Amino acid sequence: MSKSLIYSHLYAWYEVNRRNLPWRETEDPYAIWLSEIILQQTRVAQGLDYYRRFLARWRTVEDLAAADEAEVLREWQGLGYYSRARNLHKAAKMIVEKASPARGDGSIFPRTFDEIRALPGIGDYTAGAIASFAYNLPYPAMDGNVYRVVARLLDIDEPFDTSAGKKLFHNEIEKLLDRENPRLFNSAIMEFGALYCTPVLGDACATCPLSDFCLAHAHGTAELLPVRKPRPKVRDRWLDYHIYINEQMVNDQMVNVFTLIHRRENPKDIWYHLYEFPCEEHPNAPINDPYGEADRMNEVNKEMVNDKMVNVLHTLSHQRLHARFIIHKVSVLPQIEGTIAIPLSALDEYAFSRLTLRALDTLLPSLLR
Ligand code: ADE
Repeated sequence: MSKSLIYSHLYAWYEVNRRNLPWRETEDPYAIWLSEIILQQTRVAQGLDYYRRFLARWRTVEDLAAADEAEVLREWQGLGYYSRARNLHKAAKMIVEKASPARGDGSIFPRTFDEIRALPGIGDYTAGAIASFAYNLPYPAMDGNVYRVVARLLDIDEPFDTSAGKKLFHNEIEKLLDRENPRLFNSAIMEFGALYCTPVLGDACATCPLSDFCLAHAHGTAELLPVRKPRPKVRDRWLDYHIYINEQMVNDQMVNVFTLIHRRENPKDIWYHLYEFPCEEHPNAPINDPYGEADRMNEVNKEMVNDKMVNVLHTLSHQRLHARFIIHKVSVLPQIEGTIAIPLSALDEYAFSRLTLRALDTLLPSLLR
């Protein structure tokens, strides 16, 4: 297999087909890092706005480090996987604390793969992406798209998401990497996987610029690859969120509406430091209630609403959350440990999970009426 022929075909394809994405127009490691963290679990189309807003608000890693964690979580709201935002902020603080001011270009961002890899929230992929895109250092950046391209080029039918599989693929990409042009190589192979060598191929292989070098094409196995290990079972959980509403009247005129929220404090929790309404978990599906109906609708994320309640079926990677948000209009707010009372009009100032935001989208108009 001629690597230089693969490079020239791949780069020619990339020149014509690449998307103009803002993080490709910069070599600022901070901006590239930010884009990679956002894109870890988010599509480009959704991530673009967040990337622009973060960068407009916190221009440098020093600016981000000086922010409050609550502000960062608030700006992250809606993207999910909040540990990304917490780690981003923590890493910014670590970078600033360790900074030695004497670098010629004025940037305090770490410059070696090992230093970048050591930051919280950064694994091999992200460290390789930052090292190659910002500094053109010869490290691979294997995201899901690259695994797919490599599995097909070499016709590898080992699962890529086991530790043995990762080693195998890593060895192969180390051999394939263009060490003279790692920035270009990583960008091009990633984009080729994202746009051309996609999970469902149709007749893409017939006109593929790499088909002469592709073993899976030769063997007719391309669409069967890559192989994953069997998925863990999804766990069902049943949650009741209680929205207590206390309308305070003065002189027969409603002046304010208060509710109770509390902050999640378990650092291992995916929703650590996000707010929510007081929650009660049931070990099993409650009998005779509309959960079953929501499930029968057989849509992954579906809301069912009536006046006093909204049902939300919310799917995370390993959990299916059957949530009810139940409204209780009360004359006195109950005493619930750890909660705070806030005006409904201030909900905007707190960061909530996507699950709660989805319920609020549906419920807020009726709550504020
Ligand atoms: N997904 C992850 N990183 C990306 C990048 N740099 N460009 C496009 N999509 C990506």
